[in-house]
Amino acid sequence: MEFEKNILSIGAGYVGGPTMSVIARQCPEYRVELVDIDHEKIARWNSDDLPIYEPGLAEIVQSIRGRNLFFSTDIGAAIDRADIIFVSVNTPTKTYGYGAGMASDLQYWEQTAHTIVQHSRGDKIIVEKSTLPVRTAEAMERILSANDKGLRFEVVSNPEFLAEGSAINDLMKADRVLIGHHQSKTGRKAAREIVDIYRHWLPARRIITTNVWSSELSKLIANAFLAQRISSINATAQICERSDADVQEVARAIGTDRRIGPRFLNASVGFGGSCFKKDILNLVYIARSFGLEEVADYWNMVVRLNEAQKARFVRKMVSAMFNTVAGKKIALLGFAFKAHTGDTRESPAIDIARQLLEERAVLAISDPRALDNARRDLEGIPGKVEFQPDPYRAADGASALAILTEWPEYRDLDYSRIYRRMNKPAFVFDGRNILNHPVLFKLGFNVYPLGKKGLSHFR
Ligand SMILES: NC(=O)c1ccc[n+]([C@@H]2O[C@H](COP(=O)([O-])OP(=O)(O)OC[C@H]3O[C@@H](n4cnc5c(N)ncnc54)[C@H](O)[C@@H]3O)[C@@H](O)[C@H]2O)c1
Repeated sequence: MEFEKNILSIGAGYVGGPTMSVIARQCPEYRVELVDIDHEKIARWNSDDLPIYEPGLAEIVQSIRGRNLFFSTDIGAAIDRADIIFVSVNTPTKTYGYGAGMASDLQYWEQTAHTIVQHSRGDKIIVEKSTLPVRTAEAMERILSANDKGLRFEVVSNPEFLAEGSAINDLMKADRVLIGHHQSKTGRKAAREIVDIYRHWLPARRIITTNVWSSELSKLIANAFLAQRISSINATAQICERSDADVQEVARAIGTDRRIGPRFLNASVGFGGSCFKKDILNLVYIARSFGLEEVADYWNMVVRLNEAQKARFVRKMVSAMFNTVAGKKIALLGFAFKAHTGDTRESPAIDIARQLLEERAVLAISDPRALDNARRDLEGIPGKVEFQPDPYRAADGASALAILTEWPEYRDLDYSRIYRRMNKPAFVFDGRNILNHPVLFKLGFNVYPLGKKGLSHFR
């Protein structure tokens, strides 16, 4: 079959995979391909055991794989074939040299630019899908235009706003798609081609075009604002615990104000995921490099507060359990950074587990999707850890339960059965405020929610 256009994603991870699957399904006249340097990942994309879990994703892949959706490791051939290349590689925080711990590590990004030049025989549109520091497109263009084949590459920024756990829904019903382009004839033409893709399923009013730098910066700022809301409500939770206010009541009261809105107002053990921390640190780095010290300090506080939130949760557990958890079994329910994903990158559960192990607790970790990743995350950390898919077994003989991910199934567990099989006194630390605290208290638990008074049987 002849396809109208060849679209390629370099990088078949949490962004490349779902984004391209949706584009392929919505645009059957386009041939959509994903390539990756990770051969095992590509093999899994071509199997029934996909490398990532997202609700609805497996169904899409199964229905169109081999028709107009392809996964391959032959990066050169795929680049040569492509008219439009989305670059969706990872851009982690730099761990070495200048800017270590703050700046974006652009080595995968730059490597991709060189590979594109090497394998191209015709002009192409290059789409920045990865989240990048502002003005990265400029560097990309310099590398791409330094070719001696007379080729032209037009770089367009199209950051991704999907959230893991609801990626397919977010892509299908995107609040907006952002396309940043150069204000030139070729820039506008390239942007129109990207708009055309999304117009297959989104109305024109949901597609925003800007200049390239606004687009790059908007993605960093969107994540910084979202993370800032979480740190704001977590800071509020700390005040609530000291003042007998209730953070859920406060969230409801302020969330009804249309200027504030109700979303992202759940107090928790802290934000995680691969993006928030790295993108804010990147923003802090950029601000400092512009000499904007107050701006840098302002955003840095969002990350610092998040780190403190995790440490405070562990301190609260230890202090409630008579200042020692050494040798005590603690069941951690949930390890993914949020519900409906198996992703544990930067999950607060990692730091909490590490700190509890330092306190010599014995951990039983349960999660419906993330146990393989949890095992990898805790590898090499000394201490006793059991990975247990069944939450009831995880709680068997434990002194405490801690809810670390808001999986809905944890709401509906049979807590009287759990209580009977736990060590007494039994504790629940609800790091997501999803349980019915008075009911648990009546069952006999000592209950410690976030940002509200604990319910304890001790006098
Ligand atoms: N995960 C999210 O929810 C999310 C949301 C929006 C934006 N983003 C951004 O999108 C980008 C990708 O994130 P992700 O979560 O998909 O990362 P990921 O690690 O899941 O996927 C990136 C993939 O790129 C591959 N890769 C790296 N270098 C390559 C190269 N030179 N050639 C071919 N493949 C290469 C890696 O092997 C990996 O499979 C990041 O910049 C991230 O900040 C992520």
